[in-house]
Amino acid sequence: MLNVAIEAAKEAGKLLKQRVGKIKTIEQKEGHERNLVTEVDKKSEELIVQIIKKHFPSHEILAEERGSQGKSKTKWIIDPLDGTTNFTHGLPVFCVSIGVEQEGEILCGVIYDPNFDELFTAEKGKGAFLNGRRIHVSATTSLMKSLLVTGFPYNIAENPNHAVERFVNFLMKAQAVRRMGSAAIDLAYVACGRYDGFWEVSLNPWDMAAGALLVEEAGGVVSNFTGGKFSIYEKEILASNGAVQDEMVKALAID
Ligand code: IPD
Ligand code: CA
Ligand code: CA
Repeated sequence: MLNVAIEAAKEAGKLLKQRVGKIKTIEQKEGHERNLVTEVDKKSEELIVQIIKKHFPSHEILAEERGSQGKSKTKWIIDPLDGTTNFTHGLPVFCVSIGVEQEGEILCGVIYDPNFDELFTAEKGKGAFLNGRRIHVSATTSLMKSLLVTGFPYNIAENPNHAVERFVNFLMKAQAVRRMGSAAIDLAYVACGRYDGFWEVSLNPWDMAAGALLVEEAGGVVSNFTGGKFSIYEKEILASNGAVQDEMVKALAID
């Protein structure tokens, strides 16, 4: 399954790289002004799903643009273009993310960034890799020395879960905070030690499935905002190198 995920992510990534800056249609999703979808998101998803179906016709698919298809104990969770807003502006920060879940557990995950030709892969219990080389989370031990990353939901104007206050809080407590616009890349970068921690609210399973496994397999920790059990089907994600997790949980406790 990992090999099929890699094949699909690379093919789709190639398409994204070819088409960036050349898109014809940008639509707003569900009438939401900020949540965009292009013909390339759909094309990329079609390509990925075709490759998966060729190898595993009976497996279930959960993909951002088509929703859920089929019923099986093995589910492919797909974001065909993570970073659509960047993509529509020609900003080369976007990727493909594919995770495989079996009976509630993520078995393997792939994130492919075609701009840097970086392929992040992980299999449960077998470690995390960047272009075939083993990766590890950072060794930073304090929030004040941490480079963090976050993102904001499309309905940020409503400030869900105090997203703005939490951002300000981390700006005061960490070394610096970045905002890349691709949750999957954020997680991949925590896994390889470029960032020490990441938090975000209101993400979807396809934004997090592969990335959460990558962080864990790279020796990091993924939880909800109170340090409890993480689920890709819930609203909060806090991922870090583990060493700064408790400080991040404290910083997130705003209410
Ligand atoms: C978005 C990106 C972004 C995050 C948004 C996501 P999309 O995914 O991951 O970083 O802040 O909440 O929806 O729409 O580009 O696939
Ligand atoms: Ca996404
Ligand atoms: Ca997407």
